[in-house]
Amino acid sequence: MVSISQQNKTLFKSRSSKDIAFSQRDSVTIVHLSDLHLACTDGISWHQLLNKRILGYLRWRLGRRREFDYRIFAILERELQQIKPDHVIITGDLTHLGLPSEFKAVSKWLEKLGPSERITIVPGNHDTYVETDWAQTFFMWEGYILPYSSYEGRLPPPGLEDVFPILHQVKNVAIIGVSTAVPCPWHLAIGEVGTGQLRKLEAMLEEAASMGCFRIIALHHPPGLGSIGSRKALKDAGRLVRILEDRGCELILHGHSHQSLCYTLKGPRGDIPVIEAPSALCVRSSKSRKARYFTCKIVGSGQKGWKCRVEDRIFSNFQKGFVSVKQEEFVIAGSSHRSGRRS
Ligand SMILES: [Fe+2]
Ligand SMILES: [Fe+2]
Repeated sequence: MVSISQQNKTLFKSRSSKDIAFSQRDSVTIVHLSDLHLACTDGISWHQLLNKRILGYLRWRLGRRREFDYRIFAILERELQQIKPDHVIITGDLTHLGLPSEFKAVSKWLEKLGPSERITIVPGNHDTYVETDWAQTFFMWEGYILPYSSYEGRLPPPGLEDVFPILHQVKNVAIIGVSTAVPCPWHLAIGEVGTGQLRKLEAMLEEAASMGCFRIIALHHPPGLGSIGSRKALKDAGRLVRILEDRGCELILHGHSHQSLCYTLKGPRGDIPVIEAPSALCVRSSKSRKARYFTCKIVGSGQKGWKCRVEDRIFSNFQKGFVSVKQEEFVIAGSSHRSGRRS
């Protein structure tokens, strides 16, 4: 694994093809944010704390709240209005204790960002901190989830694993949101994709490839084996990695570790770039953990190939806004540049 600020240039150029001409006309700009941890602990009842939440609540009151600055919400709104992305992806832990009041506050903020068809959210472990009632939690985010799910069962759905993966298509970019969020024991922050989602994900990747789409997988937990301690890891990362090795995708975005990282996973035609965004609201001094978001500008087609320009934007206390610290580019050869290989 390589920090994005230290990454070597060969990382993003490993799949390059020199002679691809790209049209900017159909470019798609994606903004990737993660781990907002919007906490609403004022007025919390003891009844709501008679479970695992008591730990998260005490940690928050005893210091963790000082890591986050909610004034950055307004700064993000302003910057996104300027960037005018085609789509925003938020990779989990939007809430801190999974409280109904936090789900409500998040949905109010999402409304300010833009219409639901321009936003993909996937839940994180903090959004399922304890077992909760759909009607009091994810019901408030249904507009971002259900219209993009293949789930056709009864409402409310039995669980996240039934409605994910979800698919947002933006021109020729397919954004596949996978849920890794599961309520887990007190000392754990693990995730799980589950057999049903893995099966649907495999089919979605295949279909999106046959349509010539640039495929982005968005999830909360790191998909790489051994990239995080077992207490916080994805239980079925091995099964997910095997699907990625077989079906491939063009980009993976995730959060969870609260660090900025860029690394690769093995795909059927070479390395798959993986970008981890830290919390978009963290004001800790460590550079790798400081508030950041990424923009990805994608141009190309499945036949001609793709170019993706990634801009790394870090929060500056001095400038009271995000500043660009790095721009990298990766190029993927299209099917017309390959022969005898699966598209
Ligand atoms: Fe988080
Ligand atoms: Fe997390």
